[in-house]
Amino acid sequence: MSRTILVVDDEIRLADVLTVALSDLGYNAIAAENAVEALDILSKEQIDLVLTDLRLPGMDGRQLLNEIRTNYPETPVVMITAFASVRDAVELIKEGAFDYIAKPFEIEDVAATVYRALRLNEVVKDNERLRTELEGRYRFDQLIGTSAPFCRVIEQVTEVCESRATVLLTGESGTGKEVVARSIHFNSPRSKRPFVAVNCAAIPEGLLESELFGHVKGAFTGAINNRPGRFAQADGGTLLLDEIGDMPIAIQAKILRVLQERTFEPVGGTQTQETDVRIVAATHKDLKTAVSQGLFREDLYYRLNVFPIELPSLRNRKEDVPLIAAYFLKQFNESMGKRISGFTPKAQTAMVEYRWPGNIRELQNCVERAVIVAKGTLIDLQNLPRYVFEGHLNADEQNEIPSDIDAELLKQERHFLLKALEESDGIQIKAAQMLGISERSFWHRIKKHDIKIVKKMLN
Ligand SMILES: Nc1ncnc2c1ncn2[C@@H]1O[C@H](COP(=O)(O)OP(=O)(O)OP(=O)(O)O)[C@@H](O)[C@H]1O
Ligand SMILES: [Mg+2]
Repeated sequence: MSRTILVVDDEIRLADVLTVALSDLGYNAIAAENAVEALDILSKEQIDLVLTDLRLPGMDGRQLLNEIRTNYPETPVVMITAFASVRDAVELIKEGAFDYIAKPFEIEDVAATVYRALRLNEVVKDNERLRTELEGRYRFDQLIGTSAPFCRVIEQVTEVCESRATVLLTGESGTGKEVVARSIHFNSPRSKRPFVAVNCAAIPEGLLESELFGHVKGAFTGAINNRPGRFAQADGGTLLLDEIGDMPIAIQAKILRVLQERTFEPVGGTQTQETDVRIVAATHKDLKTAVSQGLFREDLYYRLNVFPIELPSLRNRKEDVPLIAAYFLKQFNESMGKRISGFTPKAQTAMVEYRWPGNIRELQNCVERAVIVAKGTLIDLQNLPRYVFEGHLNADEQNEIPSDIDAELLKQERHFLLKALEESDGIQIKAAQMLGISERSFWHRIKKHDIKIVKKMLN
């Protein structure tokens, strides 16, 4: 497609020379005698580049440049100037001109500059397009699931992303709170600004305030410079306060203030700073209980709870398991250079029926491990971790009359021992209580079955 160049010069002869030369080079060239006429053309036509004299009657080239920068920021402007002192040129470029050409000029110079400007513009546009595409991919590919509870989540994300309302994400560990926080950001008008995540549970209490709000030089030993915090980094964008349920009470008060007044002070500083940040808070804890225990400020809870989104656990959306497993299988195939085409029906059923206490993250780990150990083209039961398939083997054969009742009872016993351990995160006394036996009896049984206790059975 031919590019259109607008030549602005009050010297008709020069304008003619330029338009003819540019047409010869294959561009569409339009001429304007002054800035007003140029702006009129810009408002009506699709112009890819403006070539303008600096000295024009009435509104001069510099003012025209400013108008174009403001109203058509993507259109490059090349200035033609008779007095090309370096200072002028630098000033023009600072003000947003792509380049300048000094009079008298060779037409080849004009051609080369125009070519470079158009080419750069294309690269910038390509970049923008790639970025949009990437964000699009983010939106559609990262949030897998078609079950009703998950569709409800997507619906809520869509409802809330346009606004700057505070969002509170709750859900068990591994249910996708961080991915959802990101997709809220990348689908919001703030998407071009930063997304910053702070894990409130991972930062020592003494450092959290400075991490969030920054500090001024000398605020404490080791503060050798002013340092901006996460609020400043996220300005204009989104700040994820992850594991907010673990935030110390003293800092909760400061967060409350940011939410109410949109201002904060860096540690050791007296100057109040304004902030324009959208807050997404996430926690796997039940904040209401934390409030009743005096561990979480009630006023902050209500401020955060403006738009709550609860992420369903994977066992409450079992029908999504095959879809998510297939998604991870594809990813691990690619990263490990494998060609596993799917799961055997038995493996698939076992995965759907398993409880997934670690949710999607656990499923992801399980598929990764299976891809590593699988020898054939399909992932089978024995490629899954023991606790996933043992329960299942059992369920499969539940209704048949066993040919060896003792062996069968042992198998059942083993199954329930493992299940209780898994549900109690490996805590024996809890597991024993679940099964209605003493801890001592529990201990004897797991010895008999040679079951090794791992604190968290899923690891
Ligand atoms: N809907 C989804 N589709 C596909 N993958 C997902 C989905 N939700 C989460 N994941 C993946 O599952 C893993 C866990 O997600 P994420 O870290 O967001 O969970 P979380 O709720 O923040 O967990 P935690 O409480 O442990 O921090 C990530 O690898 C993420 O990419
Ligand atoms: Mg998380």
